Amino acid sequence: MEDLGDNKKNRWAMATFITVTVVIVAIVLAVFYSRQSNEYKLESLNKSYDYIIVGGGSAGSVLASRLSESPGVTVLLLEAGDIEENNFLVTTPGAVHLLQHSELDWEYYTVPQKTSQFGIYDQKSFWPRGRVVGGTSILNYLVYNRGSRHDFDGWAHNGCEGWSYQEVLPYFLKSEDNIIPEVMDSKYHSKGGPLKVTESRAMTLVDTFLDAGKEMGEHIIDCNGYSQDGFCPLQSTKSEKGTRWSTYDAFLKPALGRDNLHLSVNSLATKVIFEERRAVGVEFIKNGRKKFVTVDNEVILSAGAVETPHLLMLSGIGPKEHLTDMDIMTISDLPVGENLQDHMMSIVYNCINGTQSMTEKQASSISNTMRYLLFGTGSHVTRSRYIHQVTAASLHLLQVSAFQTFTESFSQDDAQMDMVQHVCQSSPSIPVLGFGT
Ligand SMILES: *[C@@H]1O[C@H](CO)[C@@H](O)[C@H](O)[C@H]1NC(C)=O
Ligand SMILES: *[C@@H]1O[C@H](CO)[C@@H](O)[C@H](O)[C@H]1NC(C)=O
Repeated sequence: MEDLGDNKKNRWAMATFITVTVVIVAIVLAVFYSRQSNEYKLESLNKSYDYIIVGGGSAGSVLASRLSESPGVTVLLLEAGDIEENNFLVTTPGAVHLLQHSELDWEYYTVPQKTSQFGIYDQKSFWPRGRVVGGTSILNYLVYNRGSRHDFDGWAHNGCEGWSYQEVLPYFLKSEDNIIPEVMDSKYHSKGGPLKVTESRAMTLVDTFLDAGKEMGEHIIDCNGYSQDGFCPLQSTKSEKGTRWSTYDAFLKPALGRDNLHLSVNSLATKVIFEERRAVGVEFIKNGRKKFVTVDNEVILSAGAVETPHLLMLSGIGPKEHLTDMDIMTISDLPVGENLQDHMMSIVYNCINGTQSMTEKQASSISNTMRYLLFGTGSHVTRSRYIHQVTAASLHLLQVSAFQTFTESFSQDDAQMDMVQHVCQSSPSIPVLGFGT
């Protein structure tokens, strides 16, 4: 009899749980689908601004926010994409795989490569790039890894004044709000800045990876600390609630109320206009109409590694021969578009026979989703990539990072390679296809 009573209670609890879950999921979906087109309500643009920033992405959001801190300065930020407010897929780190290749992504592919990408169809590498306010920080894997100090010092050494590691570090500190207990008090980190940096060890496999590193004689380090050589649990741009914290959330959103800052969305810059060799304004297309705004001080291009050189070339700044081929008048003959660097990444699949990992079914279960919605825990707070039924791994893969410096010099010979470990729970029944990002 007692067993039967317990059973009934269990069933009742289960029914309540399911009802509550269904209601919550319905509310979430309703909010998600009812979000408006998000046309930024800007009655009209001014004729001119002190600064025009092209590209409201990871960098542009910061620039617009910092420049408009001075009330005497007027700023226009142009962004080709729109604002994504209350988009569950954007705020949920575990949904990142649904954002790449979506309407928020420029979805670039390289031309077929001759010496790499042998595992990829047509040897064309896929380059996801954010076409949205907040840019690629809206659809990246949230990794908070600063550049190598050797790269910064190399730029300074080559004449880029003010860009040595010692000179840029204070700006990293000014930005950061780090709440990771192990590192937040180090002199390489700080608290109180707008950019939230947290860590997620949703799975014990992270520690297993770190132990493996130790076994190999590597140091367990802070990847944003003194040296990047070693193994580290990754730090991510994520709020304490486990949600994505893009540069839009961190920098631009709090600044949008300022009178001296205008944001124009759905505005694709097509040309920087020059008088002699001085930039005097920017031409752009909004809602199918061509527009022009003049600038009193500076035009700043922060449209990313692909669009910034593209716009420069459209504006007449680039290799003369190529511009002439394209019927563009050369204003300045410069090697724009060269020396583009990408980091190599190889993906390794391993299967374990254990419960430390998680299948897609488990990851997308209602209880896992509830854990995320209610407590900000569970695998949704980690970045993931579900491939067929083989998963989890990707959950971990980006939670640990290991660096090895190949040369000690400050030369460009420094190389970094990403090795991404996918750990599946049991033997994959479907062959897994490699992909590159
Ligand atoms: C736009 O122009 C108005 C009127 O001159 C001015 O008060 C305002 O600050 C300007 N806003 C920006 C962002 O330039
Ligand atoms: C996985 O582990 C279970 C129980 O520990 C064992 O019965 C099974 O044979 C293992 N499978 C493989 C493929 O090793």
